[in-house]
Amino acid sequence: MTNNKNLAKPFLKWVGGKNQLLTQLETFYPPELKEGKIDQYFELFVGGGAVFFEIMQKYPIKKAFISDINPDLILAYKVIRDRAPELIEILSQLQTEYLNSNLEEQTNIFYQIRENYNKQRIDFNYDGGGCWGFPSISNHRVNNLSEESIKRVALIIFLNKTCFNGLYRTNKKGDFNVPMGRYKNPTICNSDNILKVSNLLKNVTIISGNYDIFTQYIDSTSLVYLDPPYRPISNTSSFTAYAKSSFNDDSQIRLSQYYQYLDQECQAKVILSNSDPRNTDSEDNFFDDLYAKYNIHRVSASRMVNSQASNRGKITELLITNY
Ligand SMILES: C[S@@+](CC[C@H](N)C(=O)[O-])C[C@H]1O[C@@H](n2cnc3c(N)ncnc32)[C@H](O)[C@@H]1O
Repeated sequence: MTNNKNLAKPFLKWVGGKNQLLTQLETFYPPELKEGKIDQYFELFVGGGAVFFEIMQKYPIKKAFISDINPDLILAYKVIRDRAPELIEILSQLQTEYLNSNLEEQTNIFYQIRENYNKQRIDFNYDGGGCWGFPSISNHRVNNLSEESIKRVALIIFLNKTCFNGLYRTNKKGDFNVPMGRYKNPTICNSDNILKVSNLLKNVTIISGNYDIFTQYIDSTSLVYLDPPYRPISNTSSFTAYAKSSFNDDSQIRLSQYYQYLDQECQAKVILSNSDPRNTDSEDNFFDDLYAKYNIHRVSASRMVNSQASNRGKITELLITNY
């Protein structure tokens, strides 16, 4: 059995992270995965990548592809893959400075870094990280990540490890607006894990873009995992606020058409997760109608229904498979 302690783990805490669902999810993986018949793995809304890390380290995947529409998140994956030692150096300096400061100083450091991070985004050159536009696959290891990119990723990790709840949330303008958290001794630089992640990412194709960016490479030996922003399950929840653009019902419908394309044209094995609208309205058949042709499983999950801790409770989530 694999010792979980030695495995690379997600390096960012991400809203909608699947860590708690992994054991249940595993029971729904296609048998072909265990039989070694799946060569390629695609995770197209990768976020923190809990499922990606799990699958890559437990099954014999030959080629993996990850994407997300958030350019900063994708920059982080690329910098960890290609420039881990430099990133670790900056992060450990940040950690020493932060942990040697008193609360008032830490507060100043946090808000100064948040401000710098937001200001820098306005004219940041993500192309320096090969992010936007679709580079040819053979060109996906663009080693032109700028020093600025490495520093920016250090800020992203710093903010993620020190902000309230480790939540990634931006306002309408696209600014990161989570307040400071109250952790006593946050581990800002987990160098051991960063190096493990870097190693795991060595041959992974990483691109920032819409979820259909890898379509031409998906075939019958592929497993595709789709974990889109959840459809809000109550009027007050705002789980769609991951990035600037919101993922509304029209987006969910378009994604279901893409699911069908992956199933019928690419002949891939596809898993999609989403919130279950029946948690709040037993007659809401939105996903049951959209995915009527497929297998809809309801698994129990414990997650925040909205931002108030008092509303955390047992609810079900959907897992939709085409096998
Ligand atoms: C539910 S989260 C993924 C959580 C992830 N599975 C984890 O374990 O952390 C959804 C992700 O979809 C991304 N996203 C939103 N719209 C997208 C789009 N049109 N194409 C690709 N990614 C998108 C967001 O940036 C966010 O990271």
